[in-house]
Amino acid sequence: MVDGPAIAPCSRARDLPVKAGPRYLSHLVNVRDASPQDIAGRAVAFLGNMAMNVIRRRGWELPERVATPEPLFVDRRTFLAAAAAVAASSTTAVAQRLSDLPDPSASLYPAKRTEKYVLDRPITDEAINTTYNNFYEFGSAKTIAKAAQALKLRPWLIKIDGMVEKPFELGIDDLLAKMPLEERLYRHRCVEAWSMAVPWSGFAMAKFVELAKPLSSAKFVRMETFLDRSVASGQRATWYPWPYVEGLTIEEATNELAFLVTGAYGKPVAKQMGAPLRLAVPWKYGFKSIKSIVRFTFTDERPKSFWEALQASEYGFWANVNPDVPHPRWSQATEELIGLGERRPTLLFNGYGEYVAHLYKGLETERLWA
Ligand code: MTE
Repeated sequence: MVDGPAIAPCSRARDLPVKAGPRYLSHLVNVRDASPQDIAGRAVAFLGNMAMNVIRRRGWELPERVATPEPLFVDRRTFLAAAAAVAASSTTAVAQRLSDLPDPSASLYPAKRTEKYVLDRPITDEAINTTYNNFYEFGSAKTIAKAAQALKLRPWLIKIDGMVEKPFELGIDDLLAKMPLEERLYRHRCVEAWSMAVPWSGFAMAKFVELAKPLSSAKFVRMETFLDRSVASGQRATWYPWPYVEGLTIEEATNELAFLVTGAYGKPVAKQMGAPLRLAVPWKYGFKSIKSIVRFTFTDERPKSFWEALQASEYGFWANVNPDVPHPRWSQATEELIGLGERRPTLLFNGYGEYVAHLYKGLETERLWA
């Protein structure tokens, strides 16, 4: 069931992100004194509530600290870690039941790590990363992992069209066979002011652009997620401009950091994380990193993204990370490291300025940061 308008079309600009928090805060009191079994039990209850309650969220969630008083917030993290562990085990079971065939790409992983891309923080636990997701096709809550298992990954055709020498289609396994796989450790910064650190596997988007053979007149690449209301209940919500669309300039897409992801944590990427093909552009807010891509269109027109179409005053085309430019409704100065219980200052370009700052020289009059 779709959980109500996330953003009422007539009042988007005023809406604040609303957490379901108050409904389950009662679970959290005294969690510090509880036994691990007790916490796990509460986690199960919590997940049950998340599934059963209609959770109204509007747009992006507030950062945890903004939404929850500090003493509860500390307990909430302990609690969320337990919830994530329980969810991970049940998600795995559901995934095993639902998948028709073993993933034909499984033997490609783990890919060899490219050591150049280093982290300044530990890798986020897989159990947390696979249970705390934004994938609006499956709902506007973070707990979409189970619903996302309905996504069928084979056959998965990818269309390449627009301003290219010759439009073509190819299946994900044919694409994998043509691309040099590697693993990269990247920071991942959501516009909601939380972050993770992820061991992605995949290939440089520059290699993909080479394969696509765009004409010199192409200035942008527009990417599109699958559209199938029968598997993605979120796509039945007509107030969203489906399918999910994102775009990059050709210079951004061929920058060495732009990465097309097919795996994570040493195996094919989980459905809830955007299988079988998603983007990772770590110097930009996470909403640019489109999931489950089926189409790349090369064009000379700047694409209008899903979030820009929904709320242009808050989400623009460039969306580069900048601690000094607040979101209209919250600060971007710091970020919550999910799973670590730590808040850190946000870094300009999410710490990747040495790779990408030059892309924006001469574009200072553009809205580069939101
Ligand atoms: N892609 C699609 N198709 N649908 C989405 O809802 N959410 C975006 C991005 N890509 C989204 C998407 C947002 S807001 C973020 S922060 C990241 O995916 C979340 O990726 P993760 O769930 O792997 O952390």
